[in-house]
Parts: sequence; C-alpha cells; structure tokens
Amino acid sequence: MKVLIVYDSRTRNTEKMAHAVAEGVQAEGVEVEVKKVDEASVDELPEVDGLILGSPVYYGLPSAKLKEFIDASVKYHGKLDGKVGAAFASSGGTHSGAETAIISMLEALLIHGMVVQGTSGRNHYGAASVGAPDDTAAETCRKLGERVAKLVKKLHG
Ligand SMILES: Cc1cc2nc3c(=O)[nH]c(=O)nc-3n(C[C@H](O)[C@H](O)[C@H](O)COP(=O)(O)O)c2cc1C
Repeated sequence: MKVLIVYDSRTRNTEKMAHAVAEGVQAEGVEVEVKKVDEASVDELPEVDGLILGSPVYYGLPSAKLKEFIDASVKYHGKLDGKVGAAFASSGGTHSGAETAIISMLEALLIHGMVVQGTSGRNHYGAASVGAPDDTAAETCRKLGERVAKLVKKLHG
C-alpha cells in the first residue's frame, strides 16, 4: 500500500504541510512518497493506492503547475478509479480561498473516480493553513494523512 503526495510550493509553506501530512500517513504504517510537482510524474499514479494533492492558493485556485499535473493525469483517466484522494492548501490569509482551492483539487480527484472522505468535525474538506503551518495546522495535516492511510488500508489492505 502506498500513498503519493504531490505538492507545489514557492515559499515552502505548502511544502511544510506536505511533510506533516506524510508523517500522518507513516504513523499508520502506510508507505508514503512526497514529491514536489516539478519532480512528480503522472506515470506513478497507477501504482499508488492514494493521492494527496497540495498547493498554495493562487486567486482562490490551485497553482498552474499543480493544475498542469492534474491535466497530465488524463493519461490514466479511468485507471485511478477507487483510489483514495485528498487535498490541502496554504493561503496568505483566512477566508481568502483555501477552501475553494482544496475543493478544486478534490473535483479533479472525484472526476478520476477516486474516493474522497470528508471530516464531520473541523477542516471538512482537507487541511488548510495560513502561511506556514503552526502547531495546530501541522496537527490537522497529520490527521489528514492518518485518515487517508486508514481509508487506504480499509479499501486496499
Ligand atoms: C500569484 C499569487 C496569488 C495568490 N493568491 C492568493 C489568494 O487568492 N488568497 C490567499 O489567501 N493567498 C494568496 N496568495 C498567497 C499564497 O497563497 C501564500 O503566500 C501561500 O502560503 C504560499 O504558499 P507556498 O509557500 O507553499 O508557496 C497568492 C500568492 C501568489 C504568489
């Protein structure tokens, strides 16, 4: 069982979130690979059981580089059905687009037929952080990783 985390980040805020998400996946005993979007290849997608996308918020949306990765994933359209998906984002402020950026990423994962689990408590759509993750946001990221790993084990273990 393996989870791939693909993130974009210019000033390392989202990168820090990516590593905290990875800690959560690892804590559940599931293998995880963290890749910056420039180094990631869609050719890895058929091999993984879960995909977590992370992006800085640019005008309420994921970055163009992250969107480019999503668009390249059309190569495996129909082949990612049933895999687990999730998303996280770092924004510059509160209520300034993190949730819309997360939802945009989740939309693409749903179109691939992936399974996306919401959260009934806080952070319903995924993990969001203003700037670099503080302790609370880092914990939210770890929890996201844990939930994805647990679902991967349930569906693919
Ligand atoms: C082109 C551009 C557009 C941005 N648009 C938004 C925005 O709509 N809302 C917001 O809260 N922050 C916005 N920001 C701020 C970034 O989302 C924020 O600084 C984020 O933490 C950067 O993440 P990174 O360090 O991983 O690159 C924008 C930044 C840039 C460069």
